[in-house]
Amino acid sequence: MDKKILVVYYSRTGTTKKIAQEIAEFLSCDIEEIIDQKNRSGIKGFMSGGKDAMKRELTEIKPIEKDPANYDIIIIGTPVWAANMAPAVRTYIMQNREKFKNVAFFCTTGGTGVEKTFIEMDVAAKKQPIATFSATTSEVKKNTYQRFKEFIEKIKSFEI
Ligand SMILES: Cc1cc2nc3c(=O)[nH]c(=O)nc-3n(C[C@H](O)[C@H](O)[C@H](O)COP(=O)(O)O)c2cc1C
Repeated sequence: MDKKILVVYYSRTGTTKKIAQEIAEFLSCDIEEIIDQKNRSGIKGFMSGGKDAMKRELTEIKPIEKDPANYDIIIIGTPVWAANMAPAVRTYIMQNREKFKNVAFFCTTGGTGVEKTFIEMDVAAKKQPIATFSATTSEVKKNTYQRFKEFIEKIKSFEI
């Protein structure tokens, strides 16, 4: 039986979105963008975003279209904000975690906070990820990120 996989992600400036789309393409699976209803644009949005992420605040997100209960694996992606996940991703996880069967995580980062972010996601989801992947913003821009294939292979070969 084929596994049902969903990629869900939040992206403020398109970096995490690029990886999310690539994952969905490699796995031929569904994809859903998480939309933060709070304005995160500009310097004001940057500041509030960092502060909210650090304080583990939740936000309001647009209602989701794809029910995570219908999937065997949910692959959750976030930019690293203040060494944490973005508030929109935390909100998605908190609202849906009881429906997760298996999870995998990915993030994009300026360069720091990856391990801490994955631990935060794992605690919030109450589940250990079956695979993780991270890339820096500049790696994504240059298409030079490593270990992507391994991440995809781990998910492909995961037995449900
Ligand atoms: C509010 C905010 C906080 C951030 N905090 C960090 C951080 O703690 N460490 C880091 O390396 N990069 C940090 N960044 C950079 C982003 O993680 C990075 O640029 C990411 O690739 C952006 O993804 P996106 O284009 O999908 O929004 C931060 C960016 C924002 C907007």
